[in-house]
Parts: sequence; C-alpha cells; structure tokens
Amino acid sequence: MSDEIFKDKDSAFDRNLRPKKIDDFIGQDRIKKSLNIFLKATKERQEPLEHVLFHGPPGIGKTTLAHIIGGEMESTVKVTSGPAIERVADLAAILTSLEDRDVLFIDEIHRLNHHIEEILYPAMEEGKIDLVVGKGPSAQVLRLDLPNFTLIGATTKFASLSSPLRDRFGIIYRLNFYEESDIKKIIQRSAEILGIEINQKAINELACRSRFTPRIANRLLKRLRDFAQIENQNKIDEELAKNSLDTLEIDEYGLDDLDRKILGVILEKFSGGPVGINALASAIGEDRVTLEEVYEPYLMQLGFLERTPTGRKVSHKAIEHLKNNRLNF
Ligand SMILES: Nc1ncnc2c1ncn2[C@@H]1O[C@H](COP(=O)(O)OP(=O)(O)O)[C@@H](O)[C@H]1O
Ligand SMILES: [Mg+2]
Repeated sequence: MSDEIFKDKDSAFDRNLRPKKIDDFIGQDRIKKSLNIFLKATKERQEPLEHVLFHGPPGIGKTTLAHIIGGEMESTVKVTSGPAIERVADLAAILTSLEDRDVLFIDEIHRLNHHIEEILYPAMEEGKIDLVVGKGPSAQVLRLDLPNFTLIGATTKFASLSSPLRDRFGIIYRLNFYEESDIKKIIQRSAEILGIEINQKAINELACRSRFTPRIANRLLKRLRDFAQIENQNKIDEELAKNSLDTLEIDEYGLDDLDRKILGVILEKFSGGPVGINALASAIGEDRVTLEEVYEPYLMQLGFLERTPTGRKVSHKAIEHLKNNRLNF
C-alpha cells in the first residue's frame, strides 16, 4: 500500500494550533454539547462512536473535531481523503488495515468516486467488505469481517454527497461561521501559543476581517506578526493591525481581491445578475468548485450574494460596499 492514501495534507502550522481536547475547542457550543453526550454514552457502553459527518466551509474546524473525537475515544486516527483514494483496492487496503476501535477520517469525502463509495456501504453498515478475488469466470466474492471502527467524514459540499452515503452516518453536524466573540477567543489562544503580543483592539480588528473562520484568523495573525517584526514593534496594536490588513487588501468585511472581483464582475459584466455559475467562473478565470465551496458561502452569509434558480445576484448591500470601498476590483 502506498503511503499516499494515508496523508494529512494540513500544514504543520494548522496542526500546531489545533486544539486537542473538546474543552479547548472554542465555540460551536451546540455541537460540543451533543458530541460530549454521545462520546460519554458510547464510552459507558464500551462501543465505538457511530459514524460522524462534518460539513461546512473550509477552515472551520472539521479536521480538528475529527482528531478531538479520536483523542476522546483514545483511538488511533487514520487520515485519508476522497481524492487520495483512486481505486477500489486503495479503499480495501485502508479498511482491512484498520484495527479495533480505530477512527478512519476521510476528508473531502464528497470527492470519492462513486464506484469506490459503494464499498463503504457494507463497511459502514455491517462492518463487512466484499473483495473480488481472481479474474474472469473463476472470480469469487470474498466477504471479510472488519474490526469495529468509526468513520468520520468531512466535506465542504454536503449537497454533492450521495444520499445512500449520507444516510449511513449516524451523526451529522453542520459547522457554521463563528460568532465574533468566539473568533476573538481563538485569536487570543493562538497568540498565546505562538508567543505573539497583541492588544484587545487589534484582536477586534482582526476578528472582523477574518471571515469568522479560525484558519483565516490564524493565518492573518501570523501575517501581522511579520508586519510587527519588520516595523520593529514588539506588540501588535490597532494601528498596526489596520494598516497591515489594508496593505493586504483585506477590507473591513474580510473580503479579499477575489471576493471583490466576483461581486464586481457580476455587477459590471452581468448587470448585477442573475448569472449562471459557469459563465461567472469563466469571466473571473477561477474554478467553479472553488467559487462554490470557498468564496460563495461567506458572501452569502454576509448577504452580499444571492443564489437564485436563474443564477447569482449581487445585493444592494454589496453594491454599497463596493462603492464605498476605494479598493478596486
Ligand atoms: N473551534 C476552534 N477553536 C480553536 N481553533 C480552531 C477551532 N476550529 C478551528 N481552529 C483552528 O483553525 C485551523 C483550521 O481548522 P481545521 O479543523 O483544519 O478546518 P477544516 O478541516 O474545517 O478545514 C486549525 O488549525 C485550528 O487551529
Ligand atoms: Mg480539514
């Protein structure tokens, strides 16, 4: 088996800042509360947790929660992803390498090929896997028992998961963008871990421009540290935060160049919409999937973009924002 199929492609930076325990995981209280109950109940029954699916935008804590669950269950977490599993044999190799009570984390599970996905159904439901042994007329199906395991899937695109796969998860959570107060706590926590001095006003400024997404907040915090260092400042204050974020062309809503380009293109080239996603993607020169999974959720959350049956439209609020912003698009 190649090592490629077990691959955690998250950066060391993400891993360092990742909370290890459920109590260190900030925000998403509803999820934490029920997850705690399920973990406790299954622990008492000495059973593995049911299969869990996390969905929501990138950088919001799906991978973090998968590892936290593994830790709370005192299990080994094996990590792979939809695109890394190219053949049926890859998935069969992964499943047969599992040990009792392991957690198997499949990131970007919506990208699993349909053929391969079908192997998962009996594995998730009955703990069995059907292997085809031999070729041609003498080929036989061999049914193997798998150890008890918990599958954790993560996806940015819940809608593109097939319903048979969805139905086999006992626990499904949608992670939403964070509350501003929680993002502030996350920045505070990361600053402490990284040994960065930052005052409250600078944290507030950063929180507003972080798209309420922990990964982005952490990334921008690191950029601010670079600016502080070059300016010979040992502390990040409001002025430094504002100026640096302006230099990075991240506006007060946390929008970057591409966000503004999306809105600007709809407004200028398509008279504000509606415009179909394919036409929009080619006008911008970005990949459709990236637009749908990475950019649109936040623009919709802000009320800047609407998805209608005939296409995407910009809102008045977005038009006002573009007008008031000196930053061009
Ligand atoms: N609730 C949280 N509390 C603290 N840090 C978090 C939280 N959620 C995410 N993070 C931070 O954000 C980074 C990205 O989270 P991750 O779980 O990799 O996102 P996803 O898998 O949804 O793309 C992690 O490295 C972690 O440091
Ligand atoms: Mg992830």
